[in-house]
Amino acid sequence: MKKISLTGIKPTGTLHIGNYFGAIKPALELAKEYDARYFIADYHALNTVKDPEELRANIREVAAGWLAAGLDPEQVIFYRQSSIPETFELTTQLMAFTAKGLMNRAHAYKTAVQENIEKNGDPDAGINMGLFTYPVLMAADIILFDSDVVPVGKDQVQHVEMAQDIAQAVNANYKGQVLKVPQAAVVESVAVVPGLDGRKMSKSYNNTIPLFAPEKTLRKLIMRMVTNSQTVEEPKEPGTSQIYLLYKLFANEGEQSALAARYRAGGMGWGEAKEELFRVVNRELSPMRERFQSLLAEPAGLDRILGRGAEKARPIAAATVRRFRKAAGID
Ligand code: ADP
Ligand code: TRP
Repeated sequence: MKKISLTGIKPTGTLHIGNYFGAIKPALELAKEYDARYFIADYHALNTVKDPEELRANIREVAAGWLAAGLDPEQVIFYRQSSIPETFELTTQLMAFTAKGLMNRAHAYKTAVQENIEKNGDPDAGINMGLFTYPVLMAADIILFDSDVVPVGKDQVQHVEMAQDIAQAVNANYKGQVLKVPQAAVVESVAVVPGLDGRKMSKSYNNTIPLFAPEKTLRKLIMRMVTNSQTVEEPKEPGTSQIYLLYKLFANEGEQSALAARYRAGGMGWGEAKEELFRVVNRELSPMRERFQSLLAEPAGLDRILGRGAEKARPIAAATVRRFRKAAGID
């Protein structure tokens, strides 16, 4: 039997190239080899997105984004988290096996508390129970579908480890393999895609290249990247150039070494380096952008695809919940 790969993306904003290289592309690579189950984590997004129009639009964008990037819904089970009610039953089942101390140690929660303390406020200000219990819902997403591997960026590894701990606690208590214990899969070369300012690309830092930005916006964003004051003649070191690091993600090996040689030889200014970057980025993104726009133009089509995915997903989910109930004596 093929192994199972599962991952989810939260519809909290516009997809960017960090999401693409760190999550979507490696997940689609894995789908060639594994039975893949990919979904839109809409209830995770509810913790922060409280405007219904915004959430609805974000969900559609993430759905169209996955499909435009090449997800084949005949091959991958593709669905919305909210369409699988078993997720929420398993969450309750897992709660009884999740130490509160484990949640206290979750990075996202700890960072939020730390920021509150630094502002001299109430440590729990603005923190809802959805954020506090976020890792349990994520563990349910993963465990529900008997996942073997979970392709994620580095920042999500701790959550996958928590899912392992929780599944192991259940199995240890009932002395058997009630739930499958998952593994994280991080693609090291792209584990952190740098943003326009050199920090990790993230919507929280406002330093992203949106995956489906119109060509003009894309060009403007790249041309506005900050560089040092080296003159055109001066040789430049590709390894420390933000522009080159992004170029590497989009260019083939021949192009990478040719551009690195031009950097080192001198005679190429930052403006020209940016033009080269724009060329390769646009080459990869423009066909996806067109597919994305035509998918978004027909929301009923997206709903149909996600509905079919949910139909395929639910029997798998129901079997896991039944297995737990039986082991627990709630059958
Ligand atoms: P953001 O940091 O912009 O809020 P999310 O937390 O919504 O992004 O991330 C969604 C997925 O994309 C996760 O699997 C995450 O690890 C991955 N990801 C986000 N930003 C990057 C990045 N800069 N490099 C690699 N992967 C990333
Ligand atoms: N927490 C993930 C993120 O912020 C999204 C997510 C929710 C997820 N459930 C998941 C990822 C299950 C992998 C598996 O990016």
